[in-house]
Formats: sequence, C-alpha cells, structure tokens
Amino acid sequence: MVELGCHHCGYRWNYRGESAFYATCPRCHYKVRIPNQKVDQTGELGKIGLEEHSKNLTGIAKIVNTVVSQFGYDENMLIQILLTFQKNFGWIPREVLSEVSKQLGVPLTRVYQVATFYKAFSLAPVGKHKIRVCMGTSCKVRGAPVILERLEGLLGIKAGETTPDLRFTLETVNCLGCCALGPVVVVDGDYWGNLTVRNVEKVVRSYR
Ligand code: FES
Repeated sequence: MVELGCHHCGYRWNYRGESAFYATCPRCHYKVRIPNQKVDQTGELGKIGLEEHSKNLTGIAKIVNTVVSQFGYDENMLIQILLTFQKNFGWIPREVLSEVSKQLGVPLTRVYQVATFYKAFSLAPVGKHKIRVCMGTSCKVRGAPVILERLEGLLGIKAGETTPDLRFTLETVNCLGCCALGPVVVVDGDYWGNLTVRNVEKVVRSYR
C-alpha cells in the first residue's frame, strides 16, 4: 500500500493496486505516477539502481523500466524512449513495445503507430552493414535486378532480410539521386556505382 496524491485535483488516497508504475485518481481519473523510483542518472542501460523498485519486475520489464524511468514516465517522451532502445540495441523487439505501452500507460496501438511511422525505428534485427540496392528506373534498365539477384545469392537472403549472423541487411530503394552511376548500391553510406555482377562479390567481401 502506498499513499498517493493527485496532481490534478489534490485528492489523496491509499493505493493498493498492483501496478508498479501508475495509479488512476479515484476522483478525477487523472493518471498519477507511483513515486518509488530509485534512479541513478548515469544515462547508461544496466547501471541504474532499480533493486527496490524492480523487485517484482523481470527481464525485459526491468530493462524497459530503466529507460522509461529516466524519462520520468512521461508519455510525451515516447519517441525519445523508443530512440534510446533503437540506439542501444539496433532494433526494438515487440516485447519491448508492449512493455513500454504498459509502463507509460499509453495504448499499444499508439506505440506501434509511432514505431512504424518513423524510419529511424526497426522492429526486426538489423545487420551490422546495411546494403541498399537502387531499384529506380534508371538503375533498373542498367541491370539492378541482376545485381540484386547476385547479392541475394551471395548473402543467402532476400531483399528486406538480415543474415542469421546479423552481419548484413539487404534492402531495395527507389533512386539514390545518382542515376548516371547506375546500377548503384550503397553500403553503410558508401556509394558503389557502375556495378557489374562480377564486382558485386568484391564489394561484399570488403565488409566481411
Ligand atoms: S535510379 Fe538509381 S540512382 Fe536514380
């Protein structure tokens, strides 16, 4: 049991619910944070003293709580919270989205809307190297489909997939703005133009 006070209407009551994060004011239904966070503002995952607060939390819930608590359980910080996961893990697992929704007290559909709207977020593991093959009209007529086929064969994956060792992610894009160099492939920001089926392997090898 914990005594809570509503910041909105001032009502005070003894909370006996099960949530470790939020309670709803019985009078005005305002969302009230349960103030038992013990946060070390190091800003680094896994270095925060959550021992007391996270007694009832396990695994992903603990990791999510580490981040969400740094942002004061503020639902307006949803994008920044998701960016923190993206930056630290390279992608955001669905379990994390669901836990963020729970701990922030925002609907899961909204969390998904944000996570799928911005290109900065990836909901699947991403390889260390991102290979983007231009499939714009100009590159296409200059042989891009054959280059893509060769890359898929070399990596053993289809466009949109990541190799099991998380080394490469293969994607297609529409026009990279350098049509005269077609067919063009970009690897981690490096532009490779005038590619041929023969030299594709050399490009991939230079990132292994
Ligand atoms: S079509 Fe490939 S760079 Fe423009």
